[in-house]
Amino acid sequence: MSRTNTDTMEVSGGTPLAGEISVRGAKNLVPKAMVAAVLGDQPSTLTNVPRISDVTIVRELLELHGVTVRDGAEGPHSLVLDPSRVEQATMGDIEVHAGSSRIPILLCGPLLHRVGHAFIPDLGGCRIGDRPINFHLDALRQFGAVVDKRPEGLQITAPNGLTGTQLELPYPSVGSTEQVLLTAVRAQGVTELRNAAVEPEIIDLICVLQKMGAIINLDTDRVIRITGVRRLGGYIHEALPDRMETASWACAALATGGEVFVRNARQVDLMTFLNVYRRAGGEFMVTHEGIRFWHPGGKLNAVALETDVHPGFMTDWQQPLVVALTQATGLSILHETVYENRLGFTEALVRLGAQIQVFTDCLGATPCRFGRRNYTHSAVISGPTSLRGADLTVPDLRGGFSYMIAALAAQGRSTLRGIDIFARGYENFLPKLEGLGAQVDLR
Ligand code: EPU
Repeated sequence: MSRTNTDTMEVSGGTPLAGEISVRGAKNLVPKAMVAAVLGDQPSTLTNVPRISDVTIVRELLELHGVTVRDGAEGPHSLVLDPSRVEQATMGDIEVHAGSSRIPILLCGPLLHRVGHAFIPDLGGCRIGDRPINFHLDALRQFGAVVDKRPEGLQITAPNGLTGTQLELPYPSVGSTEQVLLTAVRAQGVTELRNAAVEPEIIDLICVLQKMGAIINLDTDRVIRITGVRRLGGYIHEALPDRMETASWACAALATGGEVFVRNARQVDLMTFLNVYRRAGGEFMVTHEGIRFWHPGGKLNAVALETDVHPGFMTDWQQPLVVALTQATGLSILHETVYENRLGFTEALVRLGAQIQVFTDCLGATPCRFGRRNYTHSAVISGPTSLRGADLTVPDLRGGFSYMIAALAAQGRSTLRGIDIFARGYENFLPKLEGLGAQVDLR
């Protein structure tokens, strides 16, 4: 592969991916565990840290707030975070990070506890829906925070401190559940959170907080009860493996007719994905070192699929799987119920030759929040179709990965622009592709 300073990649499709890659800690846990370290008065050590830009952004943000962050004994895959000199960063410094990540919103609770106020710039992240923060702000207000919305960002204070409260989320949002956890652990008294998200990354964050000294009960029916404590210490924690990256490469193996062993993949976090993968005709084998995924030859099967909060089928798995479903025989049906605007990527797949029709109706067993609101959130994929190369611009992290899978599965050459975004969530993206035998060139 030739390497130049560019974010455009030429892909020559038609070669099955074959080989092994390994996954590290989850992109959707590591930055949050780094934020949790701010709540302590002793250093924390996080291991299995992936080298992705979301981690770099949060590292820089924490350093601006006085946290000393250095590589741990195991090199850059471990971080030691020392929060003993936490301070409020200047607004100018923080604004540099505006629009680069959604993680800053999770600093509210930790900064309110440590320095009494927080400034949160405009948030970034993938454009896959409106991605409002109303649940976050409503929860903070219930703890006693005062939120002042200004053109440059949010100024948040807690004139009377933060007090435990009873909350019920309108929807089991991952970020809002994390917001409540990171605020409640040091609030005065007990917090009861109903309709909480219980994704594996949230359970891992709870483990981190418990190691620091927090008291958190995970009750049945999405209820989390947190008893606030006066002080928290540090933690030593190994981040759970990234189940989104695992599923992405598994789908790449299926769509290209190949075989990929994902070292470190963990079955327990992928149960629902594995069931659907098997129903679609993909094979997998779980070993104590990871999971092997492959296309067994012959036909793939069409499936009906509905995304949901955990333990349902993750929204982040949907985009790469849809590419594999363009190769399945019959009509596959997709109902996206987590984000209202996550099917835009199908337009590009159609340009490659896929037959996909999108709908505003709920094409699933359960009507969702987006039905009757004119959001295009269902799709019918008709297959198998042969794909041919095209010129594509990456729209967001998972959508972009699915374009890449489609380009690998297509006959002929594709140009993929905007591949820089892969660095946000996929460590060593290009060397991994190269190692799996993909015919790609940077230009
Ligand atoms: N929502 C609101 N108001 C809020 C918060 C959320 O209406 O205040 C809505 C959202 O608009 C969305 C739904 O609730 O329709 C779920 O959003 P959630 O808060 O669960 O998502 P998030 O915390 O912003 C995380 C991951 C996403 C992943 C989702 C769902 C991180 C950094 N991001 O987002 O990951 O898709 O949970 O599991 O953890 C990705 O990795 O590419 C990615 C987008």
